[in-house]
Amino acid sequence: KKNSNYDRYYSLMEEVQKYFGEILFSKQGILGLEYLKNRGLDEDFLKRYHLGYAIDGWNNIGDYLKEKGYTEQEIFDMGLIKKGEKGYYDTFRGRVIFPIFSPKGKTIGFGGRILNSEKSTAKYLNSPETKIFTKGDNLYGFINKGSNIRKNGFVMLMEGYMDVLAAHKNGFANAVASLGTSLTEKQASLMKKYTQNIVICYDMDNAGRKAVERASIILKRYKFNIRVLELSEGKDPDEYLMKNGKEKFKKELRNSIEIFDFLYNYYIEGINLNDIILKKNFIYRFKDFFNSIEDEIEHSIYIEKLSIA
Ligand code: UTP
Ligand code: MN
Ligand code: MN
Ligand code: MN
Ligand code: MN
Repeated sequence: KKNSNYDRYYSLMEEVQKYFGEILFSKQGILGLEYLKNRGLDEDFLKRYHLGYAIDGWNNIGDYLKEKGYTEQEIFDMGLIKKGEKGYYDTFRGRVIFPIFSPKGKTIGFGGRILNSEKSTAKYLNSPETKIFTKGDNLYGFINKGSNIRKNGFVMLMEGYMDVLAAHKNGFANAVASLGTSLTEKQASLMKKYTQNIVICYDMDNAGRKAVERASIILKRYKFNIRVLELSEGKDPDEYLMKNGKEKFKKELRNSIEIFDFLYNYYIEGINLNDIILKKNFIYRFKDFFNSIEDEIEHSIYIEKLSIA
């Protein structure tokens, strides 16, 4: 019985994904299409990645799905409508839509971006957790059942939807993003099925560098070889690729640094190691990292690197 319920949820999600896609290429989606083209994505690419647009209105999605035979409850269960004082209204309004696929390729959720950032609402809105969508269990851009990751021999972990799309467009189809949450164990174990090598490509701002530190501890528990891409120009991979192109990006990728060196540079900022107290605090910052490393040889290599500090 449960299965037939779930089948309806999956077909509802596929139905609405197609609907968003059709809107994007219709008169009503013109602003969204213009926006995405301005960000360097052409129509062919947008279709291949099933991008869409949600009309800036209150009842378009709900009404469409009801016409297709789904109940209000089912549409609500999938996070596509919300309960207001005057009845239900669409969750996604006036946003370009990024469908999120399960590792098996089923549509399970959506991300939506507003067109102009002056608006006071959040820049990105994601589907809430539903009966078929758990953010921390999925990765954005994980396509073709991981074959691109296996083929390349490594995975590139990014922050955002646009970073992943820009990467894929430029031939780096092994890029994924962790859906606006910090990296989870589930996401690490999903990637680990396809490779043991990862390059973290987070935004190189304070939040991004902090997130690298957190992710590295989870990834080390899963025994990844970790490198970090430190983009010198442009804030995130999308901006960098837009500004500098794929050849320069490849060069940056070749110059990505090993996680220990990244953490070392991060922790030592402004620290004078001649001061014993500062030195002790500096070394203690590696504690979680070291605790996450099971392999004795790897452990001792890092200890040696730290001891010559
Ligand atoms: P960023 O703010 O770095 O977004 O957030 P971005 O991808 O560079 O966005 P653009 O280039 O301006 O379009 C990175 C990711 O964090 C999540 C989204 O998944 C986003 O892609 N996020 C961000 C949210 O979930 N909500 C927000 O309000 C902002
Ligand atoms: Mn497809
Ligand atoms: Mn950021
Ligand atoms: Mn960006
Ligand atoms: Mn960004």
